[in-house]
Amino acid sequence: MTQFSYRQGALHAETVPLATIAASVGTPFYCYSTAALTSAWQAFANAFAGQDATICFALKANSNLAVVRTLAGLGAGADVVSEGELRRALAAGVPAGRIVFSGVGKTRTEMKAALGAGIFQLNVESLPELEALSEVARSLGVVADIALRVNPDVDAGTHHKISTGKKENKFGIDFDHAREFYARAAALPGIRAVGLAVHIGSQLTSLEPFRHAFKKTVRLVEALRADGHVVQRLDLGGGLGIVYRDETPPDPAGYAAIVREATHGLGLHLVLEPGRALVGNAGVLVSSVLYVKSGLHRRFVILDAAMNDLMRPSLYDAWHAIEPVTQPGADQRHEPFDVVGPVCETGDTFATQRQLVLPRAGDLMAIRSAGAYGAVMASGYNTRPLIPEVLVDGGRFAVIRHRPSFEEILALDHMPDWLAGGAG
Ligand code: LLP
Repeated sequence: MTQFSYRQGALHAETVPLATIAASVGTPFYCYSTAALTSAWQAFANAFAGQDATICFALKANSNLAVVRTLAGLGAGADVVSEGELRRALAAGVPAGRIVFSGVGKTRTEMKAALGAGIFQLNVESLPELEALSEVARSLGVVADIALRVNPDVDAGTHHKISTGKKENKFGIDFDHAREFYARAAALPGIRAVGLAVHIGSQLTSLEPFRHAFKKTVRLVEALRADGHVVQRLDLGGGLGIVYRDETPPDPAGYAAIVREATHGLGLHLVLEPGRALVGNAGVLVSSVLYVKSGLHRRFVILDAAMNDLMRPSLYDAWHAIEPVTQPGADQRHEPFDVVGPVCETGDTFATQRQLVLPRAGDLMAIRSAGAYGAVMASGYNTRPLIPEVLVDGGRFAVIRHRPSFEEILALDHMPDWLAGGAG
């Protein structure tokens, strides 16, 4: 997190004061650091350097074109889950041969787009989806390379809303059905089964669930091979956690060691789909304090950012560090505040009873670790414009998504003929 640090009492992104960006683009805004993206990428890529692996950045974590291009420039492939993300990956310059398409419900239109682009593989999660894909591939005169996503029934030990590898979750197919599935795939003209895929959840802070899931999946690879099937690729998904507060997630090297331990000697081409680990700590959300309100029982810091801008606290009770952009003096007293946004919901709360130095209206606050699942999950609730994204690189910065004007927002709605005449 060193790319966001205080210099002479002012929080900087690399060498740019966040206050300078705020003065230029207004608040709230997301700010990403190129150096942080680069060092997260390098840690991950170096960890897998000795293994035959394609690292596909999971665009769902942050799909801004400039962010994706930064990672693509370093060698990243892409894991996409929609036609929109596929288009983003291609537009950012990710080669089609390094794109995988995941997701439990791909439409035929999305399949067509993926096959038309010639991507590396589609991860298929059900028999009906497999059959639909075969039909689409045949209609295009191509053969789809697919990995079968299996559900290993392993508890990822993470928040229940981002846990995906238990048998009651909607993802993947049961291990017991993998043989049947592979046999069906072999019989379908538009399909070539190339391997398995597994992803058990996000923000994992222990290696054990990974170890367990990978070993189980590798046993399945061996069983399928014994049946005479070709299994040449293994997609191990994403999920590596980051530090938000005091977690001690495994580092990429430890994670890569588990992968090597589970897969060595099998001659498998690996696919990894990290999202959060590459971008989570490469971004902050900068917001202004609108008011400090003292109630009888609580004191509230009301920000100009809200739950619609960063949903993680309200959706997952996620903890994000909140720091004043101007560093308080060492002698200043910390007191508990609830940090909230202006949206008319009690869930619009970023932090409860957080120890802060009494802020003043107009102060800038940085919400940390907002690079993953921040801007991408934002909505226009309360007709609040989506907030801009800014990319810093050394001493320069650029707006990489602008704040839409109210004209642009209102122009998305259309009046039916019968209302076009006016309200009266
Ligand atoms: N691959 C697949 C198939 C996935 O479903 C996901 C995340 C990833 C890769 C990337 O996982 P990561 O490395 O980022 O953990 N909105 C939630 C997280 C949802 C994750 C969904 N799937 C949050 O803000 O915590």
